[in-house]
Amino acid sequence: MKVTVVGAGNVGATCADVLASREIANEIILLDIKEGFAEGKALDIWQTAPINMYDSRTIGSTNDYAMTKDSDVVVITSGLPRKPGMSRDDLIATNAGIVKTVTENVVKYSPNAIIVVVSNPLDVMTYCAYLNAKIDSKKVFGMAGVLDTARYRAFLATELNISPKDIQAVLMGGHGDTMVPLPRYTTVAGIPVTELIEEEKLNEIIERTKFGGGEIVKLLGTSAWYAPGAAAAQMVEAIVRDQKRIFPVCAWLTGEYGLNDIYLGVPVVLGKNGIERIIELDLNDAEKALLNESAEAVKSVMDVLDNMNATA
Ligand code: LAC
Repeated sequence: MKVTVVGAGNVGATCADVLASREIANEIILLDIKEGFAEGKALDIWQTAPINMYDSRTIGSTNDYAMTKDSDVVVITSGLPRKPGMSRDDLIATNAGIVKTVTENVVKYSPNAIIVVVSNPLDVMTYCAYLNAKIDSKKVFGMAGVLDTARYRAFLATELNISPKDIQAVLMGGHGDTMVPLPRYTTVAGIPVTELIEEEKLNEIIERTKFGGGEIVKLLGTSAWYAPGAAAAQMVEAIVRDQKRIFPVCAWLTGEYGLNDIYLGVPVVLGKNGIERIIELDLNDAEKALLNESAEAVKSVMDVLDNMNATA
């Protein structure tokens, strides 16, 4: 299997490192526009192979898309990260141009690839990639829910003093402050989380999750990368190994949850064909209201992109 990661910044390089060290693909192309940057990172990653005992090969490229030819999966991480005080939406103008160019190049050399978008603002950059890839929406989707649920699960594991492995959760909506963690669908080894934690404490954790990305931006002065990189790699693994895993993924909706023509986080089955199936949960009125609110927030940023394209 051949996987390309576009963007050798913190998130892209971490993703490539996880893909290589866990032997998720045997060939990993790491590509960046900055001269020598991807080559340097790829060389460093490859030199961990004899130490970490694996044989997946990571190769770097300065913007030579011919090297990405016939990739099975392409992860797009290109774009500027957030600085303190910025929302993900502040990045739209710059990152839309970057994601458009990257997507066109990717599809030119790998028309059958499945595209996983990681660039921010996530939901809208996934839409941007879809518009420019001109391929089936089941093969263009975004990574957000795996990261956001990981944060939620990590916070719960700390609070309950239990293994994060045993925490299962569903989180829906956009990758922003309106994301919708769903306590009713959160369990700890099969036990509803509400039986193990006070409502007030759970609400605090939900609020912390919503702003989990911003918490790290404030601490580091730039966006997170270990968890985002690992989350993207986990989605790639589900695809290349045809695992049919269920993850919250930013997917194109055509009527599911009563929503149309929007990229939004929903639970899906991921396998070799990309999104094999979107799972429709029977949400209650309060959950539906939160999801619709999140959809409206995402839609308003999608409109910004549509207006930019209309005047371009
Ligand atoms: C975050 C960025 C990557 O949530 O969106 O950390």
